[in-house]
Amino acid sequence: MKILVTGGAGFIGSNLVDELINQENEVVVFDNLSNGKKENLNSKAKFYNADICSPAIDKIFKQEKFDYVFHLAAQIDVGVSVAKPEFDNKVNAMGSYNIFKNCGINKVKTVIFISTGGALYGDCLKPANEQTLIRPISPYAIHKYAAERYLELCYDLYNLNYVVLRLANVYGPRQYCGGECGVIGAYTYNIANNKPSVLYGDGSKTRDFVYVSDVVDACLKATSVKQREVFNIGNGKEISIKQIINTIKKAAGKQFIYKQEKDKLGEVQRNVLNSDKAKRILNWEPKVKLEQGLKNTIDWAMKK
Ligand SMILES: NC(=O)c1ccc[n+]([C@@H]2O[C@H](COP(=O)([O-])OP(=O)(O)OC[C@H]3O[C@@H](n4cnc5c(N)ncnc54)[C@H](O)[C@@H]3O)[C@@H](O)[C@H]2O)c1
Repeated sequence: MKILVTGGAGFIGSNLVDELINQENEVVVFDNLSNGKKENLNSKAKFYNADICSPAIDKIFKQEKFDYVFHLAAQIDVGVSVAKPEFDNKVNAMGSYNIFKNCGINKVKTVIFISTGGALYGDCLKPANEQTLIRPISPYAIHKYAAERYLELCYDLYNLNYVVLRLANVYGPRQYCGGECGVIGAYTYNIANNKPSVLYGDGSKTRDFVYVSDVVDACLKATSVKQREVFNIGNGKEISIKQIINTIKKAAGKQFIYKQEKDKLGEVQRNVLNSDKAKRILNWEPKVKLEQGLKNTIDWAMKK
């Protein structure tokens, strides 16, 4: 199969590319390297330093003729989306539409869009399923949802088949920190490098954490879906940031030094996903336990 992965130099995208190549697919990557890293690029994948917002991608789509497209390229920083909503709209909504439109015109079999359960459902007092009301509380979440609607539009306009995976908070090797990255990425990097971390709020905020190889597994399973569907992909466990700090401390066998700061704007307080539909239809279940996933992530950060 010939497969395009947008954002294939990034954290989740590069892990997905490696597995697709292991399974002997022909893989093409689009990435503008705004957050992705050259060192993540698999040498067996064909790489285009391309911007998803650019009209130049029309020609590449026509030439390459992809069977499947995984769309992961995105502006992922919630803080940037609050500070520069127009930019976030350009990349996450309009850039996504540019990809989906090309998928439709060029008769891609299925596009798998990586969306966000963590941000779309907002605060959840119980695990959110796919029917839970969408309550985005940041421009990032609004534009990811707009992209889902553009996908539906492309189904109407071009009969484009699609699968949306609404991910919980993903963690694992290659989640880089510098600017914004997931809390686990930041904390494991800091502890491995003996740097202090920042705890935003009092640590009672909760998230649903899913390991990157489990997400890759869900992506692969999504290619078998023949009708447009939306799935949540999470662990179903509400874990507080304080619990994360304690588990990281244990796994690293080190002191965890941090300072506390006020919570950032646009942050959800409690979030957990119900992924029963993915279990039922995709036969997907998360396999990696938090302790093991954190250990793998710390080991990777120590080697960097
Ligand atoms: N990491 C998480 O916890 C999480 C949770 C839910 C959803 N997601 C979604 O998963 C996807 C991948 O996220 P990630 O954590 O791997 O982030 P990432 O930043 O590592 O990957 C995104 C990639 O997209 C590229 N990119 C950004 N703008 C681009 C543009 N205009 N044109 C081409 N490439 C561009 C970046 O260079 C980067 O390599 C994103 O769509 C994100 O919204 C991530």
